Amino acid sequence: MTHNHRFDILFAPLKIGPVTSKNRFYQVPHCTGMGWQRPNMLAEMRSIKAEGGWGVVNTEYCSIHPSSDDLPHSYASLWDQSDVRAHRIMTDKLHKHGALAGVELWYSGANASSLYTREAPLDVNSRPNWKGLPYQSRKMDKQDFRDLRQWFKNAALRAKDAGFDIIYAYANHHYLLNNFQRSDVNDRDDEYGGSVQNRARLLREIIEVLKDTVGETMAVAVRFSPDDDQIKDNKPVTDEAQDFFSQVSELPDLWDVTAANWDIELGTSRFIEDGANESYINYVKQMTSKPVVSVGRFTSPDSMVSQIKRGIVDMIGAARPSIADPFLPKKIEEGRYEDIRECIGCNICYTGDQLGVPIRCTQNPTMGEEWRRGWHPENVPKKKSESSVLIVGAGPAGLEAAHALGKRGYKVILSEERNELGGRVTQESRLPSLNEWVRVKDYREQQFLKLPNVEVYLNSKINAEDALLTETDHIVIATGAKWRADGFGRNNTIGINNFEASDKIFTPDDIMIGRLPKGEVIIFDDDYYYMGPVIAEMLQKEGCKVTFVTTSDMACSFGNYTSEQTSAQKALINAGVQMIFSQNIHDYDGENIDLSCMYTERKSKLKAEAIVMVTARLPEDKLYYQLQNLMESGKAKLTQSICRIGDCEAPAIIASAVYAGRKYALELDDDSGVNYSLRRDINLRNIDK
Ligand SMILES: Cc1cc2nc3c(=O)[nH]c(=O)nc-3n(C[C@H](O)[C@H](O)[C@H](O)COP(=O)(O)O)c2cc1C
Ligand code: SF4
Repeated sequence: MTHNHRFDILFAPLKIGPVTSKNRFYQVPHCTGMGWQRPNMLAEMRSIKAEGGWGVVNTEYCSIHPSSDDLPHSYASLWDQSDVRAHRIMTDKLHKHGALAGVELWYSGANASSLYTREAPLDVNSRPNWKGLPYQSRKMDKQDFRDLRQWFKNAALRAKDAGFDIIYAYANHHYLLNNFQRSDVNDRDDEYGGSVQNRARLLREIIEVLKDTVGETMAVAVRFSPDDDQIKDNKPVTDEAQDFFSQVSELPDLWDVTAANWDIELGTSRFIEDGANESYINYVKQMTSKPVVSVGRFTSPDSMVSQIKRGIVDMIGAARPSIADPFLPKKIEEGRYEDIRECIGCNICYTGDQLGVPIRCTQNPTMGEEWRRGWHPENVPKKKSESSVLIVGAGPAGLEAAHALGKRGYKVILSEERNELGGRVTQESRLPSLNEWVRVKDYREQQFLKLPNVEVYLNSKINAEDALLTETDHIVIATGAKWRADGFGRNNTIGINNFEASDKIFTPDDIMIGRLPKGEVIIFDDDYYYMGPVIAEMLQKEGCKVTFVTTSDMACSFGNYTSEQTSAQKALINAGVQMIFSQNIHDYDGENIDLSCMYTERKSKLKAEAIVMVTARLPEDKLYYQLQNLMESGKAKLTQSICRIGDCEAPAIIASAVYAGRKYALELDDDSGVNYSLRRDINLRNIDK
C-alpha cells in the first residue's frame, strides 16, 4: 500500500544546512524522564521513532554545563566523554534507520536551581527561581560570557563526537538565551541589554560559536518564540519579537518556532486545539530563507500538508504525536491512516519529567518500556499456546488486552455489559472538553475489525457461572471502578458520616449518565485532577450556582504535572464558579454542609441543595472475587487463571489501565522470566571499580 499523492510533500527530502532530512517529519526536542540517568531506555525509545519513519529525532533539553542542572527533572547532558559514549548508543541507532540525530543544547539560567550539582546558575541578572525554590541566579559578568561561549563550544565538539547531525541553541521557554531576548526580563545596561541589537548579541554569539565549531558538518538550529507573550484584540502581539528576529533570521540553518506561552504550545486538548501555534509563528517564514519547523499536536496528514502548502512551515514538528504513535510517518507513507494512534492531548507524557520518572503515554502503552521490557508499539510476540481468553469489560484495560492478545493470535472473547465499547473513556469523552478521550476507544475498535480471532459481545452482563460456561482457559476481569458517594478519599479515610448516594448526593458517574443536580451545588473535590473542575464548569454553564470546595489549596493540583493547572483554575474563575480551598466536609443535613479548615479545623456552614462527590473510586471487583472463590473451591476446573486488571485492580489514570491491558497480554504464557521483567537502566559510567 502507498499513500495518497496529495501527501507526497511530506516525503520530500529537505536540506538543512550541511545535512538532509529524508522527509518532513521532525520529532522536536522532548524530555522523557530519562535523560543522562537512563541512556539505554532513552536510546531504544528514540530508535523506535526512527524506525517509525521520523526524518529527524531530537534529544530532550541537553545541559552544556553542571551549572545548568534541573534534577529531579531529567535532562540530557554533554559535560564529558561519558556523555559522548551514552549519546552514541542513540545516534548509532537513529542513523541505522536513516534519521538525523539532533541535540538541543540548553543553558537554563535561574529556572533550574542546580539542586543536584549545587553550582550557581548564570542569568541576565540575579533572578529568583521561577518554580518557587528559594534560590537565585548569579548575574553574568564579562568572564561569564567568555565561559558560556566556551561551554557551548565544548558541548558542540562533544555533540559532533557523539554523532549528532543537528545542534540547537535553545532560546525559548524562559531559559537563559530567551531571558536576554526579552525586554521585560533583560534590564542590563551593558552591551547585552537595552537595544534590540544588544539583546540579540548573546544569541548571535552562540550561533556563531556553533557555526564556527561544527557548522561545516552539522546543521545549527534555534528554538525560538516569535511572539511577545501578549494578546491584543484576540491576536498575538509580535512587534518586539519580530524586531529581534530580524537581527538573527539568517544566522542558523533552521528555525524551530513555538508560541511563547507554554500553555498554548503544550496545552492539553481540554483547552487548546490542534494547530494553535499557527497564529503566533505564521510570519516567520516570510522573514527568513531558512527552513522552519513548528508544532501543533498534528496527527492528520491533511493538516500537515496544509501547513507546508500554505507556507507556514517546511517541516512538521511533533512531540506528543510522536509519543502516541512513533510510527506515524510510516503509517502515512504506507497509506495506513486508520492505524494511526492519535494523541488525545492529555499530557500524561509530561508527568514523567515533572515527577522524575520515565515517560508514559495514555495511547501508547509501550512508551518508555522499549528497553526495560522490550515492548514495541507495533510488534507483539506471537502466541505461545492455543489458549483462549475471556475478557470481561471493554474499558481501556479490557480493550487494550483484547487488542494485544488478538494481535498475538490468541482466541479472545470480549464481553461488555453496556451497548458500547470504551467504558470510562467513552463516558468521560461526553463531558465538555474531554471529547478527544474517545480516541483511546476508536483506535482499538478500529484494530479489532482486522482481527477475526477477537469476538466482541455488547449488552452482555456476565456472572461467574456465565464466565465459566465459556470454557476459556483464562478469565480477565476488567470491569473498571465506580466513583464513591460516601466521601471516602484522601482526607476522609473511612468516609463521611451518613454519606451515600441519594437525590442530593451525586457522583461523576451520575453526571456522566445525565443525572444532574439543580440549584446551589457543591462540588467536593478530594481527587485533585480534571474530573472535579470539568463537572464544576459544566454545571455552572448548565445554570447551577456552583461552589467548588476542595481539601487542596488550588483546583486541579495534579494539573501542575500535566501543565494544565493554570488553565483549569482560570476556566473555573471565568465560568463564575466560586472556589473554597483547604476545606474538608464533615456533614450534610440536606440543606447545609459542615466544613472545617484543613489547617485550623475551624468550622463553618455552607448552603447546598446538592453535592457532587469527587473523592475516590471503588473497584468493581465482585465478579473477580466470585470467580476466585469458585476456583479455590475446585468448581472452576477448566479455567487456568483468573485475574483483574486496570481500574478493577487499582483505580488510576487511563494510561495505567491501557498499560495494564498491554502488560497482561504480553505476559500471557511468558515463562522466560526475562522478557517482561523490569530491567533497570542504572548509569554505571563512572562507578568505582
Ligand atoms: C513530554 C514532553 C517533554 C518536553 N520537553 C521539551 C524539552 O526538553 N525541550 C523543548 O524545547 N520542548 C519540550 N517540550 C515541548 C515540545 O517540544 C513541543 O513544543 C510541544 O510538546 C508541542 O508540540 P506537540 O503538540 O507536537 O506535542 C516537551 C513536550 C512534551 C510533551
Ligand atoms: S500521554 Fe496523552 S498527550 Fe501525551 S502523547 Fe500520549 S496521548 Fe498524547
